[in-house]
Amino acid sequence: MPLALGTTAGRSLRGRVRVPGDKSISHRALLFGAIAEGTTRIEGLLPAEDPLSTAACLRAMGVKVSPIEAGQPVLVQGVGLDGFQEPESILDCGNSGTTMRLMLGLLAGRQGRHFVLTGDDSLRRRPMKRVGGPLAEMGATIAGRQGGNLAPLAIQGQALRGAVIRTPVASAQVKSALLLAALTAEGPTTVIEPVQSRDHSERMLRAFGAELSVGGPGDTEVTVTPGASLRGQAVVVPGDISSAAFWLVAGAITPGADLTVENVGLNPSRTGILDVLEQMGAQITVLNARDVAGEPVGDLRVTHGPLQAFRIDAALIPRLVDEIPVLAVAACCADGVSRVSGAEELRVKETDRLAVMARQLGAMGARIEEFSDGMAIQGGVQLHGAAVDSETDHRVAMSLAVAAQIASGATQLERPEAAAVSYPGFWDDLERLQA
Ligand code: S3P
Repeated sequence: MPLALGTTAGRSLRGRVRVPGDKSISHRALLFGAIAEGTTRIEGLLPAEDPLSTAACLRAMGVKVSPIEAGQPVLVQGVGLDGFQEPESILDCGNSGTTMRLMLGLLAGRQGRHFVLTGDDSLRRRPMKRVGGPLAEMGATIAGRQGGNLAPLAIQGQALRGAVIRTPVASAQVKSALLLAALTAEGPTTVIEPVQSRDHSERMLRAFGAELSVGGPGDTEVTVTPGASLRGQAVVVPGDISSAAFWLVAGAITPGADLTVENVGLNPSRTGILDVLEQMGAQITVLNARDVAGEPVGDLRVTHGPLQAFRIDAALIPRLVDEIPVLAVAACCADGVSRVSGAEELRVKETDRLAVMARQLGAMGARIEEFSDGMAIQGGVQLHGAAVDSETDHRVAMSLAVAAQIASGATQLERPEAAAVSYPGFWDDLERLQA
């Protein structure tokens, strides 16, 4: 059933909102807890479809994970670095690229055991060779369609050897998979990225007791020395800045808006959206900045105001890779033409987000020129309500909801339920904040 949006003409957005836990940190807390010794207690874990996929895979390999419910701490009973049992059936990663890629790294070294990973229609189209290729250099055996690029993927666990690996793309999923494989390889492994991607794995692996060092220009080189066992920890997951991004943009573009997003993770490898909103002249203040369990956190207040066009290039992309769809909406409301380049990675996310945003936002009157690696978005355009579709992508669904907020007339959004992948309470929060 399509969802009717933008029917509350003249309503602004006001109030306080707490976005759910960070998706990246939630996956890692479950995975690292599973391979640690003892119990890991996770507070604020994201109770959404993607982390549920990770938990289900872990349970299928003998890991005890307590039920995942909003507001309840989650307990993971670790089985140690090599304790996974061979699962009786295929491991289903659902829509989650992070689950599949990190699992590949974690399972490649489980000698004598066989694993098969699959996912939904979207995930079975996404490239996995970017992980399987470097893992093969460490001795991994991974087979699948298109020469091991597409799931379903079969992993025959092998003894791995450490290596020095240069990744062609700045991807935290690729980096993290290799760091996980490195934990039980023979000899150290160094991963060198073209630009630093988010560093949640490095921070959390160190907190769990792994021997890991970070260096090189712009912290692009990470080395793991195997041998240390991991110990269960207490993890506190901050709110996801990639979910906060919808409110930040909605607040910046909706006349009369005044929103405060509480408890948002502000890890510098994730705050590119704040840099861009600042570049646009948006009214955003960081309040109550603090440190929680090794990650910087703060509250963000945003009010409506005039916006300038932005420029985003390759060097910035890893710090806001998931925020481009909603920034495209902001660009429609800015003065001038905004440009995104070096963003070809967006074509291999849950959907081809450059094409999908150009198509769906275009249906609402946006003037977007699409390039192979980015787009140019004409500002000062009055969007109008239309029949649009998330095309099954959670971030597209929520970005179109933000666009509907300032569009003239009503919008019908097909497949709004996609939002549950990362933000199940989004539609309730939207209704509550519409003042
Ligand atoms: C993620 C990394 C990003 C991001 C994804 C989550 C992670 O992907 O798009 O939503 O948790 O490591 P890439 O690192 O592949 O760009």
